[in-house]
Amino acid sequence: MSNNNSTAGQPTGMEKVVSLCKRRGFIFQSSEIYGGLASAWDYGPFGAELKRNLKNAWWRSVVHERDDMVGLDAAILMHPDTWKASGHAENFIDILVDCKKCKKRFRKDHLKGKCPECGANDFTEGRAFNLMMKTSLGAVEDQGSVTYMRPETAQGIFVNFSNILDTTHRKLPFGVAQIGKAFRNEITPGNYTFRTREFEQMEIEYFTKPDDADKCHEDWVQKRFQWYLDLGIKKENLRLRPHGKDELAHYAKACTDIEYNFPFGWSELEGIANRTDFDLKQHAQFSGKDLQYHDKVTNEKFFPFIIEPSGGVDRAALAFLADAYHEEKVEGSAKEDASRVVLRLSKALAPTKVAVLPLLKNRPEIVALAKKIKQELQKEFVAVYDDSAAIGKLYRRQDEVGTFYCVTVDVQSLEDKQVTVRDRDTMKQERVPVDNIRKYLTEKFSVNL
Ligand code: GAP
Repeated sequence: MSNNNSTAGQPTGMEKVVSLCKRRGFIFQSSEIYGGLASAWDYGPFGAELKRNLKNAWWRSVVHERDDMVGLDAAILMHPDTWKASGHAENFIDILVDCKKCKKRFRKDHLKGKCPECGANDFTEGRAFNLMMKTSLGAVEDQGSVTYMRPETAQGIFVNFSNILDTTHRKLPFGVAQIGKAFRNEITPGNYTFRTREFEQMEIEYFTKPDDADKCHEDWVQKRFQWYLDLGIKKENLRLRPHGKDELAHYAKACTDIEYNFPFGWSELEGIANRTDFDLKQHAQFSGKDLQYHDKVTNEKFFPFIIEPSGGVDRAALAFLADAYHEEKVEGSAKEDASRVVLRLSKALAPTKVAVLPLLKNRPEIVALAKKIKQELQKEFVAVYDDSAAIGKLYRRQDEVGTFYCVTVDVQSLEDKQVTVRDRDTMKQERVPVDNIRKYLTEKFSVNL
């Protein structure tokens, strides 16, 4: 789904995804019973599974399947000097303007001429606004207790550079991966989970010799682009966009964004930056610690360059959801206009892999067999059991949340000891012996789950 055009009264592409996410428990508004908190979202049962699958797929791809990467899980709260050294205290700012007519506030770089709210063209002078979220540690709220919720996970990696080197004895090039929450006081959050004030990042800091940095940057751009394709994003909905010099962050020499064609337009999923030796040099200077790399072969000491692929978990989840959303006619259905919503998430990402459905819930033997099959399958996959509606409805429900296979137990199953396996995408059905069902599905899921 990439089209957001609305035709008279019909929901737009984005509205359909948002509606599905709420209806089926992927994403809820934060603190909804109190009227909600703007730009904060909670992931419901299916959303939580999707996010876990996404993060696991990323971790597997960038840590476990490589020889040159390790992981880290650093604290959200850091020493306040971190943010002086990183440049965030001074440079992590947006320029704000207010519309003098409707009083709405905007990021100056997001405005294209007139006020998007009221159409006026009369704004206040721009004012700098730091995006870091302030907090205070301990019982006394004074200047000394102020620190910040990290605006990027990256700094936790930089300040641990020596710890990681000393404990893992890595040689260049090597990288550190981390997944975790980040916070920014965004002035104009919006587009659902796309821009929020609390979000999750998946970041890699890859340390390399300065001379190898450009090539390394290009390699990571290609690798990260391919990752989205491998997990099922349609190629036509993904593109690369190198940054112009005027839009580079204060620490970056170059950056290429991976953009997705969201229903609201092409927007950034992930940025892959060449941060040079900026961060290690800054932290060395502010902490007084030697953060240089010692090449024992050449006996040189130098600050490595850093290549940083930095993606958002929430943005990736939204892109995968939008890309997987399909509405289609059901061929050969009894009803002429029968249609279904199907979430064509890849096998690795689908929140539920298998649903076991009894055809008749008032037959205890059928229910018992279905529950027994579910218990056997859950040793291998995320499996669910559902008997709360008629079979047609149960199939539609599973299609909507992307469940890959439905296993149906019917009267005949009691006699021939076989069950029906239905494929989400083709809707083809096959009879499979109960004794063989776990093996049969394991072979179908030829990916690491
Ligand atoms: N360490 C580099 C860094 O933080 P960034 O481009 O500011 O770079 C990296 O952020 C990624 O984090 C973005 O590509 C996006 O996926 C995600 N991200 C950034 N701000 C976000 C926000 N307000 N809401 C959701 N995701 C966000």
